[in-house]
Amino acid sequence: MPSPFDVLQVDPDADEQTVHQAYRRRVKEAHPDQGGSAQEFQLVQSAYETIIEGGADSWYETNGTDEPATAAESAPEPEQDPNVYVEYLDYEAVVANGWELGDDELFRKARRAGLDEDAHGELTVEPGDYLLEAAEDEGFDWPFSCRGGACANCAVLVVDGEMEMTVDNVLSDDLVAQGIQLSCIGTPVSDDLKVVFNVKDLPGLEELQLPSRMN
Ligand code: FES
Repeated sequence: MPSPFDVLQVDPDADEQTVHQAYRRRVKEAHPDQGGSAQEFQLVQSAYETIIEGGADSWYETNGTDEPATAAESAPEPEQDPNVYVEYLDYEAVVANGWELGDDELFRKARRAGLDEDAHGELTVEPGDYLLEAAEDEGFDWPFSCRGGACANCAVLVVDGEMEMTVDNVLSDDLVAQGIQLSCIGTPVSDDLKVVFNVKDLPGLEELQLPSRMN
């Protein structure tokens, strides 16, 4: 039976942050929508919980030590994945390629274009986390200034899915109706989300900017 550390692909003495980062990577790989399976996904979740709760012994009691338990044997009913998978696209790439924000094929074009990971890709947001922080946790430098809803530097355009902003902010109802959200105070509330970030120079947002704290 692989140990929970084997499942997450971390050393047994890895610190909690390393375990957490490994979990986020592995749970994404194991997600049924990403080529994994419900069983593998459940095994990764179970391994993470076992390590975090310090219950490696109970892992072996549950899963046995002699033969690898099949995923179906070891995994209880798959649970709903609480994380949100966010596909992002940099507005600069939209402009540079002559694409249109209203194009239904926009993200398909981005996938085919082979853009750098900074410009297009997918990140995971845990429940209740802000989108900007999740992007920064992945090492990205998305624009921001106030981090409190008082400017439009961190604005994103939601192309698919839903976000909610947690505090009062400077966006007009019209902008929100167009799909604009502030990533510093916005958290995804749908299972999946597609956003174009770095849209701060769009009409209606430019005048809401504050001096940038990026670059
Ligand atoms: S950085 Fe100012 S509202 Fe997000």
